[in-house]
Amino acid sequence: MSDWIAIAKFDDLPRMGARVVQFDTVRVAVFRTSSDEVFAVKDACPHRGGPLSQGIVHGTLVTCPLHNWRIDLATGEAVQPDRGCAHTYQTRVEAGQVYLRLAAGKSAAATESCASHA
Ligand code: FES
Repeated sequence: MSDWIAIAKFDDLPRMGARVVQFDTVRVAVFRTSSDEVFAVKDACPHRGGPLSQGIVHGTLVTCPLHNWRIDLATGEAVQPDRGCAHTYQTRVEAGQVYLRLAAGKSAAATESCASHA
């Protein structure tokens, strides 16, 4: 399907780390967890825009390097008591290739609002 974009080799993603992919003006952080799940989240913390790609991954959460908010990689939601949401993108891994899905007919910039708050 045309809205799935090949973005990286799975083996090039650092375990418990992230790589950044740029779409238009939007930076997307692609995370690989310790159990080899892959998540894609806009690389901007919902608090003050910190680079989530440089945070520490633990389980399916990432801790923002600036003020330690914890963000759920699956939903983009901040863990309470903090409140906020970073946009997430669907991913899939096929034959060692990681794909990211942009909403049909839209650029990353056009879909950057948080899905659960849209
Ligand atoms: S910018 Fe992420 S916790 Fe403040």
